[in-house]
Order: sequence, then structure tokens, then C-alpha cells
Amino acid sequence: MEKMKRVAIIGTGSYVPEKVLSNFDLEKKVDTSDEWIKNRTGICERHISDEQTPTSKLAIEAAKKALDAAGVKPEDLDFILVATVCPDMLFPATACLVQSALGAKRAAAFDISAGCTGFIYGLELSRSLINADPTRKVLLIGAEELTKIIDWTDRTTCVLFGDGAGAVVLASVDEDRGIISSYLGADGTLGNLLYMPGGGSLNPTSHKTVDEKMHFVKMSGNQVYKHAVRTMINCATKVLKMAEITQDRVETLIVHQANNRIIEAVARRLKLPMEKVFVNIEKYGNTSSASIPIALDEAVRTGRIRAGGIVLLVSFGAGFTWGAVLLKW
Ligand code: ACO
Repeated sequence: MEKMKRVAIIGTGSYVPEKVLSNFDLEKKVDTSDEWIKNRTGICERHISDEQTPTSKLAIEAAKKALDAAGVKPEDLDFILVATVCPDMLFPATACLVQSALGAKRAAAFDISAGCTGFIYGLELSRSLINADPTRKVLLIGAEELTKIIDWTDRTTCVLFGDGAGAVVLASVDEDRGIISSYLGADGTLGNLLYMPGGGSLNPTSHKTVDEKMHFVKMSGNQVYKHAVRTMINCATKVLKMAEITQDRVETLIVHQANNRIIEAVARRLKLPMEKVFVNIEKYGNTSSASIPIALDEAVRTGRIRAGGIVLLVSFGAGFTWGAVLLKW
């Protein structure tokens, strides 16, 4: 009988910049309070990069740890994918900067732009790349510096985000573990609820775009909230159904760390107790596409995810985009 082949995560890593900005620090910058931020979001503090440190640096540090955990050398990589909405530059791709820094000479490299769902999109893309040629090894990174594209005078957005990166190495394995099912979706008609209008070909950077603050994130928080809850429940239910696995078999649920109330609502509807839900939003805030790989790495390193355990990852973000991946660790 032919051996089972699955695409699996064979190593994880994460990195956040050293500097911490607490809710109390924010109280001094804008009209907000630790109490409001904690009650409404669950966030207590976030890590922020300094001016000289671009997204690629965080990506590189996370990647080194993931490669180390996987026992894979940079020169053995076939693809490097970086999910980000905060690339170092519009081009070249941040993935190419990572490729250069790691010396991953054989690897093709490109970025994925799918908002906070970028890492989940990257998992499905990696699975397809490896299924097409099972000898391939893929480095997938979610890396963001949202704090560089938020308006620090706008209390409705500046309290939410943080910087960081998480990375995984994927390969084909002859074992009963790895990605079981996945589901992706998008609805571009709702793009105007979460976007950054300036700096692209529609509104090239000019004095006018800067004066009008078009280079900052614009978000209709309430609308995003409602769509995020409904859609993530739908995605999670779909991947469980595709795999014919009931939700009680899920050992670890990781929801995009955007808001603790969203995470709790998703867990409640899936009838999963909070002991099964990995949450670290209190330390990092919303790190967009880095949130799931950072949480995954922490859950693995702290023993919250055990070999053979069923893990459910689900995300939602700008686009709108959404997706879920069910895997056996
Ligand atoms: N401090 C104090 N008060 C505040 C703050 C703040 N930082 N921000 C808003 N408020 C006030 C508002 O002005 C409003 O006051 P009003 O009632 O006098 O008008 C009140 O608090 C309530 O505001 P809401 O926007 O209704 O608050 P809500 O409970 O919806 O929480 C939040 C806002 C946290 C943004 C929430 O809507 C949310 O988490 N949305 C989802 C965000 C998300 O999931 N993003 C994911 C994708 S991110 C990406 O893809 C890059």
C-alpha cells in the first residue's frame, strides 16, 4: 500500500521587537484608558519596532528560529513566502529581502497580500506548492509593522496594533500528521471597511495624500467586528465538516488575535471551552498576518500543542479575506 503523504509544519519560530508600549503609555498619547482598551479588546501591551527596523528584520529573525527548529538549511529552501500588509517597500518583495539575508539561493520568493488572513492563505498556497512537488521545502512567514501605518492621534485604531513576525517551515511527511483541510474566501465589495488608501497607484504619495492622512489605516471597527465573528465561525465549521471531524476533537483553537471578544464569540459558537483556545493578544495586540504564526509558535514551545493533537487556525482581515486550516500536529 502507498504510504500516506501529508504537507506538515516541521518547525516554527517567532520574533517581536524588544520595545513594549503599554496601555498606560498610550493614555499619555491619546484620549484613552487602560480600562477601555482591556475591556474592549483584551490588549494590555504591544511590541513596537524602532524607526530603523523594517518588517524584513522581524521576518528574518522569526525565519531563523523556524529553520533551526525544522533542522532545515536556508539553501535547501525552494520557496519563501512573506504574508504582509507592511512590506519594507512596494517592491521588491519583502520575501526577496529575506531570501538575500538568509542566503537561500535556490528559493523563489514573493509576498502575499491578504490582510490579516495572509498567513492562512500562505498555508494553503504552501500545501499546493508541495503537493505539486513533494521534494519542496517552503518557508512561510507572517511579518508586520502595523505601528508604522497607523495614525497615532486616532484612538480608534492606534490602540489596537503591534509589530512582530512568526514563521513556519513546511514539507511533505510520510506520517499521519499535517494539514487535513483548508478553506479560503474573500469579498472585495467590503474592501472599503478596512484599507489604506495612499501610496499606491490610485493615490500616489504626494503632499496632498500625506496632508489627508491617506497613508494610515482606515477601519470601520464595528462593521469589521460583526463580519469577522460571523465569517470565522462559518470558516471553522466548513473545515471541520470537510475533514469529517467534530469540534469536540479540536485540542487547540487559534483565532486571529484582533480582539478578545471576537475570539471568545468564535469559541462559544464552536462550543469550545476557553481552555482549548490559545490567546496571547494581551501581550502583542493585533499583529495582523503575524498573529497566528506567533501564537502557534508560542503554543508549540510551551507545550500547549502536543504531537497528534488537532489544531484549528482561523482568520479574517482586510479585503475582506478569510480562511481556516485544520491540521494534526
Ligand atoms: N479609548 C477610549 N474610547 C474609545 C477608543 C479608545 N481607544 N476607541 C473608541 N472609543 C470610543 C468611541 O469613540 C465610542 O464612543 P461614543 O460611544 O461616545 O461614540 C465608544 O468608544 C465605542 O466605540 P465602538 O467603535 O463602538 O467600540 P467597539 O466596542 O466596537 O470596539 C473595536 C472597537 C475594538 C475597534 C472593535 O470594533 C473591533 O475590535 N473591531 C474589529 C477589528 C478587527 O478585527 N480587525 C481585524 C482585521 S485588522 C487587519 O486586517 C489589518
